[in-house]
Amino acid sequence: MLVFSVETSCDETSVCIMKEDKTILSHIIYSQTVHTKHGGVVPELASRAHLEILQQITKEALKESGVKLNEINLFSATCGPGLIGGLLIGSTFTKSLSIGNCKPFIPINHLEAHVLSSFYNNEIQFPHLSLLITGGHTQIYFLKNYNDILLIGETIDDAIGEAFDKVAKILGLSYPGGPEIEKKALEGNENFFKLPQPLINEDNFNFSFSGLKTAVNLIAKKNIIDESFIKDMSASFQKCVGDIITLKLNRVIKELYKNNTKDLLVSVVGGVANNDYLKNCFKNIEEKENVKIVYPPKYMMNDNAAMIAWTTILNHRDTHDVNFKPNPRLAIK
Ligand code: KG4
Ligand code: ZN
Repeated sequence: MLVFSVETSCDETSVCIMKEDKTILSHIIYSQTVHTKHGGVVPELASRAHLEILQQITKEALKESGVKLNEINLFSATCGPGLIGGLLIGSTFTKSLSIGNCKPFIPINHLEAHVLSSFYNNEIQFPHLSLLITGGHTQIYFLKNYNDILLIGETIDDAIGEAFDKVAKILGLSYPGGPEIEKKALEGNENFFKLPQPLINEDNFNFSFSGLKTAVNLIAKKNIIDESFIKDMSASFQKCVGDIITLKLNRVIKELYKNNTKDLLVSVVGGVANNDYLKNCFKNIEEKENVKIVYPPKYMMNDNAAMIAWTTILNHRDTHDVNFKPNPRLAIK
């Protein structure tokens, strides 16, 4: 069985052809560059960029894999959550291919695909905890099985990646801001600025990052934004984020698992999981709480079509629905 999958929910245009045994025959990720100077994704520009490149990378993937379109058994695409323009383009394109080749179309939830991405390269038992940290979401899921995924905590305002991107913009760094802040932070003093840690004392598993961004903005307005300010602020901000996530994850593990963390694996997925400083924070949690933190393969951390194909194979071979309407706010049910 061969699956052809498309991801276009934000600013990555990606296609993947995967075999049933999870071998990747071709995987192309085109990261849009039009947003760099805008400090964030401009939806209209993202839609146009998806349109311009999708057909071309589909042809490239077919060529690279040596597969013909009429040999594909299942077609799937991200149908939400995300920017509606991109979702419509990717899903309509893929539906057309499925109809033209008389094969099923499968709608895939982008968040579920991020969550299941770590199952691609790790042996994971249920129940399982997953921390999803992306540009659009910051959520903690408790998985009883593939179809029973419970949201137990999330951000009440900005997502972590969004906070990285907004702080980068304040500091005059380019989009996406996460990798830029991580680089600058390497040479900064993480204790230079004391930043707020909203919600950390509240007895729940939720996050809040917009106050942190506002605090950075207020300090920036009172200072000259030179290289040393950028480095110290990047380091202080990153440390603050690391402290917040560590605290919340510790609380989740303690409350849900008490002292029985034997064999507990915790997945960390999504674009922000690329951050080595945060990975170090997770390493500390591993040691303190006696759990193991796992990640998806590197190419499945940022938005990508391989996680869409993998989720199709793992959990959605039979959920055919060519009439599914893309939904910008689609949640995991
Ligand atoms: O998962 P993803 O590609 O897209 C969404 O589903 O949102 O995540 C993109 C986010 C962006 O906000 C980007 O700044 C952030 O991931 N990111 C990072 C790093 N690499 C990407 N944040 C912090 N440190 C990084 N190294
Ligand atoms: Zn994503």
